[in-house]
Amino acid sequence: MFSYSDNDLYCEQVALADLAAHVGTPAYVYSSQTILSNYRAYDEAFGALPHTVCYAVKANSSLAVLALLAKAGAGFDIVSGGELARVLASGGDASRVVFSGVGKTAAEVEYALGHGIHSFNCESEPELVLLDAMAARRGVKAGFSIRVNPDVDAVTHPYIATGLGQHKFGIAIERARAVYERARAYTNLSAEGVSCHIGSQILDASPILEAVDMLVELARQLRAEGAPVRHLDLGGGLGISYRPGEKAPGVAQFVEGLHAKLRDTGLEVMVEPGRSIVGAAGMLLTRVLYRKQNGAKEFIVVDAAMNDLIRPALYHAHHEIVPLRKNGLPPVTADVVGPICESGDFLARDRLMANAMPGDYLAVCAAGAYGFVQSSNYNSRPRAPEVLVEGAGYRVIRRRETYLDLMRGETV
Ligand code: LLP
Repeated sequence: MFSYSDNDLYCEQVALADLAAHVGTPAYVYSSQTILSNYRAYDEAFGALPHTVCYAVKANSSLAVLALLAKAGAGFDIVSGGELARVLASGGDASRVVFSGVGKTAAEVEYALGHGIHSFNCESEPELVLLDAMAARRGVKAGFSIRVNPDVDAVTHPYIATGLGQHKFGIAIERARAVYERARAYTNLSAEGVSCHIGSQILDASPILEAVDMLVELARQLRAEGAPVRHLDLGGGLGISYRPGEKAPGVAQFVEGLHAKLRDTGLEVMVEPGRSIVGAAGMLLTRVLYRKQNGAKEFIVVDAAMNDLIRPALYHAHHEIVPLRKNGLPPVTADVVGPICESGDFLARDRLMANAMPGDYLAVCAAGAYGFVQSSNYNSRPRAPEVLVEGAGYRVIRRRETYLDLMRGETV
């Protein structure tokens, strides 16, 4: 919920220029209403179809964000022990947690079993062997799904496509039945489901729906062979609109497509959305430090950098950049760059945008997903604070790091 009133950009009822002046820049700001309404869009669209919306913690793992979703009833998709620790610290329910990832360590498996998570999305046979052994040691049965690799093309940036045969993820779908069959010999495992995740920032949902058909068929075969498969986990991946005019699939329409495929299967559906819940709910606020020209190039030097938001540098991702207060100047074509000492440090290139002068505040839009979580201390820059807006109020949910924070744990 970001919109202009007169010349000022608001998040819910909070004027962002005032917020920026108070907490300083760079700073991440999130709309709690947007996060909740995006979560509810999934939950309500599934309606009576048995379902769990497992928010993908990796997209934004701040405790206050997780707490908001836990309170709303979300489950969680985790990919590390650290993410489980965060879910637990935020009041999340371990029995609604699924654990994904291609490289779970023994210590992480042990920790997750100890907290009684719902199930493990296993990506290889050696992982099943480890899970069985660890479950035996604890005297518990571990629920698992095999993450199948359906070899479908998600049509997205190559770094975030995961469903092709050439990727490291999952077990080839044609091998899956044999692996489930062998897993029956592991007496401490229970085959709860089938899972997949074909990629992220997917703007055309049809490859996901294609994969769903393959999963439904696999689950049918497995059940016929006596495996107790209860759920399908379809992963995350629905994209959001980053550019003006970019069409993203609607959650309601996507879920409607799932109803038709799943209604009569008796299977519970799980989804693992991250970006489509928090992406559009966040902005990175920054302030213009300098203007400069090199040859024909115009630069807007701001106080946020690639360590705060690496998506433009890493995926050539587009994030709209808008003023917190419109200044009435004619637009400009410029590169928006940060203080970091490399040319890859840009937030926008050759961008036709609102003109901004030193001291002006800007917002980098749709930065709620894979923004702060991918930030670093490169160039010994303290990480930005995060602020959660709730109606007319806001609270700092993570304070700005200090120089002492930068050196925590180090010795001379
Ligand atoms: N489930 C699994 C197993 C995943 O690997 C992911 C994302 C998700 C769910 C959530 O996907 P989403 O609904 O957010 O698309 N850093 C990249 C995105 C990496 C996505 C990794 N996996 C970016 O900034 O675009």
